[in-house]
Amino acid sequence: MTRTGASRPHPAASPPPGVSPLPSSGPFRRLRSALSLSGLGLWLSVPALTAMAATLTRDDDAAAQAQAVGAVLALMLLPAVLLAPLGGMLAARVDRRLMLLIADVLRLVLLATVPLVGTLPWTMAAAFLVAFLGLLWTPAARASLPALAADEDRRARAHRSATRVVFGPAPVAALLFAVLALIADGTLGRGSRADLALYVTAAVFLASGAVVAAIRDIPASVPIHVESPLKLLFQGPGTGAVRGLGLAVTAASLASCAVVAVARVHTGELGGGDAGYGTVLAGLALGVGSGLFLGPRVLVPFSRRRLLGLAVLAAAVTLVVLALVQNLVVVVFATGLLGVFAGAAWTTGSTVLNDPDGLADSDSPDDSRPSAYLRSVAVVTAVVVFAVVPLIAGAVGSHRIDLGGGVYDVTGTGAALLIAAVAALLAGAVAYKRLDDRRGIPLLPDLRAALHGEVYTPPEQAAAAAAAAQPVHRGQRGVFVAFEGGEGAGKTTQARLAAIWLRDHGYDVVTTQEPGATKIGMRLRAMLLDRDTTGLSVRAETLLYAADRADHIANVIKPAMERGAIVVSDRYVDSSLAYQGFGRQQRVEDIARVNAWATGGLVPDLTVLLEIPPRAGLDRLSAPADRIESESADFHERVRAGFRALAEADPDRYLILDASRPQAELSREIQYRIREILPDPVPAGTEDVTSTFPVITDL
Ligand code: TYD
Repeated sequence: MTRTGASRPHPAASPPPGVSPLPSSGPFRRLRSALSLSGLGLWLSVPALTAMAATLTRDDDAAAQAQAVGAVLALMLLPAVLLAPLGGMLAARVDRRLMLLIADVLRLVLLATVPLVGTLPWTMAAAFLVAFLGLLWTPAARASLPALAADEDRRARAHRSATRVVFGPAPVAALLFAVLALIADGTLGRGSRADLALYVTAAVFLASGAVVAAIRDIPASVPIHVESPLKLLFQGPGTGAVRGLGLAVTAASLASCAVVAVARVHTGELGGGDAGYGTVLAGLALGVGSGLFLGPRVLVPFSRRRLLGLAVLAAAVTLVVLALVQNLVVVVFATGLLGVFAGAAWTTGSTVLNDPDGLADSDSPDDSRPSAYLRSVAVVTAVVVFAVVPLIAGAVGSHRIDLGGGVYDVTGTGAALLIAAVAALLAGAVAYKRLDDRRGIPLLPDLRAALHGEVYTPPEQAAAAAAAAQPVHRGQRGVFVAFEGGEGAGKTTQARLAAIWLRDHGYDVVTTQEPGATKIGMRLRAMLLDRDTTGLSVRAETLLYAADRADHIANVIKPAMERGAIVVSDRYVDSSLAYQGFGRQQRVEDIARVNAWATGGLVPDLTVLLEIPPRAGLDRLSAPADRIESESADFHERVRAGFRALAEADPDRYLILDASRPQAELSREIQYRIREILPDPVPAGTEDVTSTFPVITDL
């Protein structure tokens, strides 16, 4: 069968990643090293500066310590909230290499002076300034890295590589901080200040500066435009769906930042000190990394919107555990787990934002306004949490409660975490409700099916679709057989084999297919399958397939049936129910109703469903993928489950076959079944089916 307008290769045929290697020497490699060193310095400066702030407040005043730590954290994020556009503007105007060098030297000086000056105000000022310099340095260097790559493909990968080298060092930095704290404890005595970590951070920035100095020219070709997060927040989410995503992001950011806000003091209370603090942060960073990796890979057939809501709720529940259990080991593991949920929520949120019917309003989803809005929500929530959670901890204070049966220690940090957890639970629950795209479908069977790699279809949904597809009139003289199935299932081959066999037995047979069996149909087909067709709404797609079908019936199927022919069609209404209904997640009953009208209620006498796992089917295709074939794996899984649910709801009208079986066996079964619906006179010799109906193995 011919395919339309596909110029790009099928995903299965695209070259494996890494075929055109990124430059391994020269300015590209140096700038990437500088990015990872600068990333390491940035991540190391967080525990170093917060720990310094904690040691500069009174040892016995947990509330003051928590507030000092929270203030440093908030100050480190404040430049991103208040000065982001300024940072972008400066980075676009000043010579890139010079700016990176100056920023590195200034960061080095600031960090080295913090232990020398040894006061809380200077530590806070340094935290703000170091973060502001990071705001100049990091986006500028990240934008320059792809400009050093040779072509479009490498530039895209350089862009991703830049993200990895900036965020990748986070767990390393936290662990390094823990090790430095242990060394400092051993040499300078327990409870020593964070001097060593600060000097090491300064040295890391020195190294970053040295690497930058060794690069002769850093291109500044990419203009940097950064929207102000406050402005974005003020303008609002735009749509209700983005608001739902915003709530989910708020809840995830709230849960993870609450842990960070009190981690230093909480680990101190549990006897962990700075080494414990570093370990908790490393657990969180590793957890977030794993969550980012796992998010798109777990429960693939499960609704991403539901998964996002669940991940956020799971993060909030983990925070409850963190608040209640007073044990350092549990705290480290629970923080890691919370990180996994938060990371999974973040990637799942981006998937929801970028799916075909998603909410991003630009071709490059990372640059879209909703995506910038969500980043702003995350950052502003973080600043508020860093400022407020320690205040709550201080206000509650630590108490010993005697409850008759036992004495309980209630710490201010534990109480603050519990309050944050309840707030995250509430926000998460509302987000789940708003985002849920499978309302009315119970969660547990849905989850269970996803664990088995399947999409759950409630029995009543399939039955309703089957009922809506019931014929409104019959009485035509011919016979109508449809072949259905996912991509590459072999429908076309089997339909042709059945037609040849029928013709061999003297029947008048018309073979046809959808979409595109008529002149108009061919034009509709081109629109529907051309990959250059973008922005086609799901309803328009459904109606175009239905229009093709109506034309098909009027001009091909009905005339053939009226003269008593046997019509064999490659695809029919079930394709729309499966693809536009289940695949595009529209109400299947609606699609069935539209099609019942378009077809005048014409239902096949037999529908042969050729069943194949989507991956295997797509691998069988040799031609480049069309617009529908290049849909996501989730989409094709839903289509497959949809076909199966339809067939199972009306077993009398369907023949379900495993398409991976040998072709000859499939033909034989199809012939047996067709024989049952053939009109009189039946072919001679029906008493011996095998000899009367020869199996066709070769066309
Ligand atoms: P086609 O090249 O005919 O594919 P196949 O050989 O797999 O039948 O393309 C038809 C595509 O259109 C296929 O991907 C399924 C899709 N489709 C729908 O989404 N809805 C429909 O109602 C029909 C008939 C097809």
